[in-house]
Amino acid sequence: MSSAAAPLVIAIDGPAASGKGTLARRLAARYGLRHLDTGLTYRAVAQRMLTYGLPLDNVSAAETAARQIDLAQLDRDALSTHVIGEAASKVAVMASVRAILVEAQRAFAQRLPGAVLDGRDIGTVVCPDAAVKLYVTASAAVRATRRLREILDRGGAADYAAILADIERRDARDMGRADSPLRPADDAHLLDTSEMDIETAFQTATAIIDDAIAGRNGS
Ligand code: DC
Repeated sequence: MSSAAAPLVIAIDGPAASGKGTLARRLAARYGLRHLDTGLTYRAVAQRMLTYGLPLDNVSAAETAARQIDLAQLDRDALSTHVIGEAASKVAVMASVRAILVEAQRAFAQRLPGAVLDGRDIGTVVCPDAAVKLYVTASAAVRATRRLREILDRGGAADYAAILADIERRDARDMGRADSPLRPADDAHLLDTSEMDIETAFQTATAIIDDAIAGRNGS
């Protein structure tokens, strides 16, 4: 039986607009864990670079920005713009920037009672020993449709073809980079939500997690 004092870490990875963020938030609430959307850490670095007009491939400036990120001060609303998301994907190819952010993300995960972290490399790099790893995905077309609906529901204007092209470009960058490319960990549970609503995805995930917790407690 493993120690009851060990933090419970749940790693959730997946491509842009896969629904992993919503799922991670709900799972954290369900299991009484803290939650970190690691995409916000890359977005916060990108936001600083954009604010100061720095080229997005300026490694030393990005490293400085990464060291200044305070995980307690990540403002989801301010960081959720499309421009910042694109810039974050570019900043995220820099190995030294990743190393700085990964260290902060690991420290967050290791505090009791544990945490749900979502991102691109949680199960493979940040928390390879996580008790449960989920890889949440959906077809690019389904993800583009969901994103379009979100924008329209908020009263915005958007074009399906542009959103789809955007998602495909972001997938290629996140999956194709040399350092920590997006891919499922060997021991990740795959959750394809193309045909699932969020409630079904949540129920499927909790069944997987409950099993893992039971195994962890030796029952
Ligand atoms: O999940 P998101 O859209 O907020 O992520 C923004 C970018 O940050 C994404 O395109 C790739 C990068 N990212 C990453 O490389 N590793 C993570 N763990 C999380 C995000």
